[in-house]
Amino acid sequence: MKSNRRDFLRVTGLAGIGLAGANIIEGNATGLSGENSRQPSGRQAKHFNMSGYAAPKIDVVRIGFIGLGNRGPGAVSRMSKIDGVEIKALCDIRPEKAEKAKSLLANTSHRPDMYTAGENDWKKVCERKDIDLIYIATPWSLHAPMAVYAMEHGKHAASEVPAAVTLEECWQLVETSEKTKKHCMILENCCYDFFELMTLNMARQGYFGEIVHTEGAYIHALLESNFEKEGYYDMWRLKENMRNGSLYPTHGLGPIAQVLDVNRGDRMDYLTSMSSNDFMMGAKAKELAATDSFYKPFENKGYRGNMNTTTIRTVKGKTMMIQHDVTSPRPYSRIHLVSGTKGTALKYPEPPRISNGHSGWLDETEFKALEEKYAPPIVKRVGELAKQIGGHGGMDFLMDWRLIDCLRNGLPLDIDVYDAAAWSAVAPLTEKSVANRSNAVDVPDFTAGSWKTNQPVDVLLQKGGNTKVKI
Ligand SMILES: NC(=O)c1ccc[n+]([C@@H]2O[C@H](COP(=O)([O-])OP(=O)(O)OC[C@H]3O[C@@H](n4cnc5c(N)ncnc54)[C@H](O)[C@@H]3O)[C@@H](O)[C@H]2O)c1
Repeated sequence: MKSNRRDFLRVTGLAGIGLAGANIIEGNATGLSGENSRQPSGRQAKHFNMSGYAAPKIDVVRIGFIGLGNRGPGAVSRMSKIDGVEIKALCDIRPEKAEKAKSLLANTSHRPDMYTAGENDWKKVCERKDIDLIYIATPWSLHAPMAVYAMEHGKHAASEVPAAVTLEECWQLVETSEKTKKHCMILENCCYDFFELMTLNMARQGYFGEIVHTEGAYIHALLESNFEKEGYYDMWRLKENMRNGSLYPTHGLGPIAQVLDVNRGDRMDYLTSMSSNDFMMGAKAKELAATDSFYKPFENKGYRGNMNTTTIRTVKGKTMMIQHDVTSPRPYSRIHLVSGTKGTALKYPEPPRISNGHSGWLDETEFKALEEKYAPPIVKRVGELAKQIGGHGGMDFLMDWRLIDCLRNGLPLDIDVYDAAAWSAVAPLTEKSVANRSNAVDVPDFTAGSWKTNQPVDVLLQKGGNTKVKI
């Protein structure tokens, strides 16, 4: 029950604190898994089921953007190309960043108001009466507070990944979304990449048979970027790397969670997580601090083990493997493996490939035929436009377009608050497991049992799909 859960957080001293470094064992003293270590009673009482919830149609979706650093401006530009969107507000604590994002709208009809008057000016954006959607691209620690405040002020919230950094924040998102009936989407763009969409459609149509195992990853050499003075605002990303676990799991996890119908027919039951030592970040900090006092505060800190490997088992007995490595000098990979009783899909290294047996992968012609057959309607409808507009090869645009199209047509979102919570929760849960010799940790059921009857994502675009694009 909700009150039990809160009481539990209070008595264990977990309420309101991040789990980073807290190294707290819930439940029984002998290990991290088992009935006693579950979220108390699995939170049986819920306000409302947001999965499949169709909010009232919004003809023109009025958007306020918060966070206009590396990531935010691209979203402003993409949204300006979607029919039925009005950009009402741009907010960043750094005025020059907001101004730069505004310049992207110079030749459009959008005339946003600017909010750059300090660290709390974003609240004024959420408090406006003439905004429908708050789009958040700030440092991780601000995502959940901003999304919660937005929903409490009657706005739908869309947050960059991860949507929350602590379990408590994950619950706050769920409870606020259910209470306000406002959507809370995690902007997991990788769910809209072309091969990922195709494999989701193939999975739905039984191509892989019963899916047994899946893999995803975030392997991206960001060592230099994390230490760049002008890289991320106030070095936030380097500071986050002082937590130890799979800190950024959702790019790999989101697409395979959808393939496995997590929260919509199955759910993540428990995970175990193991990290290597840090062989690079501490050394880099030391090297830089030797000649530049700016880096002194980053010296002699405990950094995330460079490679984290997490395995997750679902209630229905499927497995997921997630890797996280943002320091090693190796080619980018999100893996995306789907392995079933009848077939396998694999992306990274590219090009992606499909197989039906142990003798090898299908050839290019056979792959193209599958692409023709299984490219889902969203790709057929706006895939080419998305590639022209761009954003990680087009997937960012597909995500934004689908979000707006769902809001305009009053359709449930593909990615709801339970996905935002469960996918984001993996990071703090892995921190617990890593800190305790990889002991198993239960994944809370944020749906409070509704996963058994929630409907899968509409990959066939059965409704909507009529929002036009202006380029
Ligand atoms: N989905 C993807 O592919 C993808 C890619 C890159 C980044 N991201 C995510 O986007 C988010 C932003 O990342 P980034 O690389 O743009 O970081 P960034 O540091 O460049 O941008 C964050 C912005 O937030 C602003 N900000 C900080 N505090 C604020 C406050 N109180 N009020 C208003 N603005 C504030 C900063 O000034 C900065 O401009 C992160 O969550 C990151 O994980 C996602």
